Amino acid sequence: MIPQYFEFYNPVKILSGSLALENIAFELKQLGASRPMLLTNTMLTGVGLTRIVQEALRGSEITLGAVFEEIPPDSSIHVVNEAGRIFRASGCDSFIALGGGSVIDTAKGLHILITQETDDIMQYMGADILRAGKRLPFVVIPTTAGTGSEVTLVAVIAHPERHVKMEFTSYHLLPDLAVLDPRMTVSLPPRITASTGMDALVHAIEGYTCNQKNPLSDAYAWSAIELIREHLPRAVANGKDIEARMAMANASLMAGVAFSNSMVGLVHAIGHACGGVSKVAHGDAMTILLPHVMVYNLDMLADLYGRLLLPLAGPEVYAATPAAERATKAIAVVREMTRQLSQACGLPMRLRDVGVTEADLPAIARTAINDGALLLNPKEAGLNEVTLILQKAL
Ligand SMILES: [Fe+2]
Repeated sequence: MIPQYFEFYNPVKILSGSLALENIAFELKQLGASRPMLLTNTMLTGVGLTRIVQEALRGSEITLGAVFEEIPPDSSIHVVNEAGRIFRASGCDSFIALGGGSVIDTAKGLHILITQETDDIMQYMGADILRAGKRLPFVVIPTTAGTGSEVTLVAVIAHPERHVKMEFTSYHLLPDLAVLDPRMTVSLPPRITASTGMDALVHAIEGYTCNQKNPLSDAYAWSAIELIREHLPRAVANGKDIEARMAMANASLMAGVAFSNSMVGLVHAIGHACGGVSKVAHGDAMTILLPHVMVYNLDMLADLYGRLLLPLAGPEVYAATPAAERATKAIAVVREMTRQLSQACGLPMRLRDVGVTEADLPAIARTAINDGALLLNPKEAGLNEVTLILQKAL
C-alpha cells in the first residue's frame, strides 16, 4: 500500500567493507576538509581502534587536528561543550566520530554547536529547528551494530542537572559519510553484540509497522530483518566472523534508514522511559519489551506482523504456517530468538533482570506516555495499557 503522500531522505554516502577506513581521507578531501577532529572514548582507544583509524589516515593529506577521547557511556551537554571548546581551539574543519550511540550523539551535538555558531545547543532542542548553517564535513565510524545512528537524524543528549534527555531531530544532523569496516566491530563482546543487534531488529520491525511507513522504508526494514535473522546469532557465537559482522553493520544501518524515515513506536517509547527512570541499557530494554509490545499491537498489526514472518523465519517456516497464524508465529519467533541469545550470552529477558522493580513501574509508565515515539505507534496506548505491558515484562 502506497501512502497518499510521503517523504524519504538518506543522503549519507556509505563505505562498507575491509579497507573502508583507508578511503576516509579521499572522501574528506572531496568534502573540502583537511583537519578533522576525532571523537571517541578511552575504552575504544584502549582496545586499539583509535590507532587503527589514525593509521588509516597516515600518509594522506588529512591531518587530525585533535583527538577527543573523554566521552562517557552516557554523554551530556557538558561533554558536547568541552568538545566544542577543543574543536574551536585546535582549528579543526570537520570531524570523525568513532564509537557507539553515545559518541555519535556527542558528535551530533558538536555539529549543532559548530554549524549553528552557538554556545548553547539547548535552544535547538526539538524537531526541525536547526537551519542549514555552516558547512562541516561529518564522518561516522560505528563500533557497534545497532543504533543506526550513522544514518539517523536524531541525537539524544542528557542534561544532568535537569534530569532530562534532550532530543534533537533534523535533517541537518545526518553525517556525510558512514564507514562500516569489519575491524571496528570484531572485538565487540557477545553480550553487547546481542543487545545492540536486537535494537536494530526493533528499529526494523517498528520501522516496518509505524504510521509513517512507506515502500522505501519497508525495503530497508525488510532487508535488515533478513540479515539479522541469519547473522546476529553468528556474530554472537563468533565475533571474528567477518561476514556476520559486516552483515550486522549493514543491517543496523538499513534499519536506521528505515526508522529515520518511518519512525519508531511503542517499544522505543517504553524503552526510553526504562532508560531514563531505571537506567536500563537501551538494547536490553528493546530486547525485553519487543515481544510484549508486539502482543499488544497484534490486533492492529496482524497483517504486517504476518508478512514479517518471512524475513524473520525464512521461506520454509512462512510457507508451512497458515496465513491466520503467521502474526502470532512471528512473535513466537522473536521470543525464541531472544531466548537463544539469552542462553548464548546472558541477554536479559525480563525487566527485573536489569534492576527494574515494581515500584519503578508507575514512573516508567508516566514517562513513556509522554515520549514522542508513542505518536507514530499504530495503536494508541495510555497509562493503563503501558502499565500492563510493563507488568508482563517485569
Ligand atoms: Fe533504538
